[in-house]
Amino acid sequence: MCGIVGYTGPKDCVSILVEGLRKLEYRGYDSAGIAVIDENTGKIEVRRCQGKISKLSELLEKSPVSAKVGIGHTRWATHGKPSEENAHPHKAGNVAVVHNGIIENYLVLKESLEAEGRVFCSQTDTEVAAHLVNHYLDKGCEYIEAILKSLRDIEGAFAFVFINEQYPDLLVAARKESPLLFGLGGDSKEYFVASDVPAILSHTRKVIFLDDGEIAVVNADGYKVLDFSGNEVTKQVTHIDWSPVMAEKSGYKHFMLKEIFEQPRAVVDTFRTRVEPETGEINLSETGISEDLLKSIDKIVIVACGTSYHAALVGKFMIEEMARLPVEVDLASEFKYRDPIVNDRTLLILISQSGETADTLAALKEGKAKGAHCFSIVNVVGSSLVRQSDGVLYTHAGPEISVASTKAFTTQITALYLFSLHLATVLGRISEKDARKLVDDLVHLRGKMEQALKQDGVIQGIAKDYMHANDFLYLGRGINYPIALEGALKLKEISYIHAEGYPAGEMKHGPIALIDENIPVVVLITRNETYDKIMNNIEEVKARSGKVIAVAEKPDDDLLKKADAVIEIPSTNKFLMPIVSAIPMQLLAYHIAVLRGTDVDQPRNLAKSVTVE
Ligand code: AGP
Repeated sequence: MCGIVGYTGPKDCVSILVEGLRKLEYRGYDSAGIAVIDENTGKIEVRRCQGKISKLSELLEKSPVSAKVGIGHTRWATHGKPSEENAHPHKAGNVAVVHNGIIENYLVLKESLEAEGRVFCSQTDTEVAAHLVNHYLDKGCEYIEAILKSLRDIEGAFAFVFINEQYPDLLVAARKESPLLFGLGGDSKEYFVASDVPAILSHTRKVIFLDDGEIAVVNADGYKVLDFSGNEVTKQVTHIDWSPVMAEKSGYKHFMLKEIFEQPRAVVDTFRTRVEPETGEINLSETGISEDLLKSIDKIVIVACGTSYHAALVGKFMIEEMARLPVEVDLASEFKYRDPIVNDRTLLILISQSGETADTLAALKEGKAKGAHCFSIVNVVGSSLVRQSDGVLYTHAGPEISVASTKAFTTQITALYLFSLHLATVLGRISEKDARKLVDDLVHLRGKMEQALKQDGVIQGIAKDYMHANDFLYLGRGINYPIALEGALKLKEISYIHAEGYPAGEMKHGPIALIDENIPVVVLITRNETYDKIMNNIEEVKARSGKVIAVAEKPDDDLLKKADAVIEIPSTNKFLMPIVSAIPMQLLAYHIAVLRGTDVDQPRNLAKSVTVE
């Protein structure tokens, strides 16, 4: 969490920093600030405030500053409540710093720095870093050496960017377990530092991702990357193929709505170059996972958080049914604390939109330590998960800015579908005819998704009818159960309405006690072997005066009579139905949130990338 930016070059940096922070606001938004080296005085000027970037812009209008070097930060509070004094950047002596992560030993460091007479102005862990660098400078260390020594003292996760009045064109960026990259400007000698690619996309697509234990020393003349011992490291420049417009709202009221409507394109981009419709073959050679390896494993474990975890649950159904290999699914935050049974015959699949989720990275580390083969399904190119995994299958969702994940989810399911089909083929568990049919269904999915999106008007009407409810229940069976969980998560996170997803068959074992005339029950009904059972569940809800919102494939007269509202979705094969049925879940949550007036793209207390454990 927290977003970091930095700039050094010939341009006035204030608007570049603020614009970059706006693009990173999804990472945290309880306070914001910049520190720049004032062109006229050569001194560090700090502007910071509690609240969002819009507040910071207002502050900068009232109190302008002009500079060509600076750093900026948008915060998601960990240590110290959101307030002006806890907002970054933090300054001590001639040094200012922004930070993403947690300094675990900050209390010990703070006590010893205070004992030297250094005065702290905030409750943050970050301020320690600024004082620590001063501590080493005062001992006579040269600036970079002082930073390196400080980094070696700090325990925990961090991405830092430092500026120093004594070195007015220099940015020093350091990384350990929190994402950080820098972008190379065009002809003009300029460099951009950021936590994530969208922040710099309108300036450059040439990017260097820092790895753990590296610092970048950047000024207008060039850059140098060092490890924490001071040895120079050679880095590769990555070309990002996202276009700047992909990180814009393009006329939509919210990023979330834009991203919901982008899903047909995103899903097609995820499978387009990887399927062979003539033969039903799937080409995943780019992933680096060999057929021999797939033949050698006896178990798959999929690990993820939040929405990505729900995609993992869908993946279990697909892999087990298509490839007949046992699959366990775990929440990343639980995985590493339960001494999981994985070994060199396990394929560990990690799913993450950002590729920076701390829990998922910790799970990867755990899996690797136990000898598992680690394969990731990730959206963000060059992210930490990608760089640490043995193989990667990218989803091609494009930048997902809304905190509530939508297109990442459906593209993750698409990637899992490709993987399941590929695995089933490699293991000889599927006929060519069946594989061809499954690929054909994928090729026709775009039209089905577009049809589901056409229900937007109907869903808006339903949202109006139920926007005042205090609780929602979401029910689904089999492969639709994860979609019930996802529907409930979407509603919770953006509308702040309590919602629970449940396997429909379990309702009678407890949650049925909740049902009365005030609780809308969203029921996912697809035409499979559980159809009659789920119709019985609807009867049970109605018998207790509950309100049923049915999301149904081919609704018949019986259902139309029983349900209070029906959202019709088109049919596809059972593995792809979750992609289609997720769309009304997303739209319902979106419209209810808009009607309730919440901050849809930046819901309270949340951040897009959860980079702390
Ligand atoms: C989804 O709407 C959430 N914002 C959240 O649950 C998210 O899916 C989770 O934090 C995992 O993120 P990742 O996919 O980037 O790892």
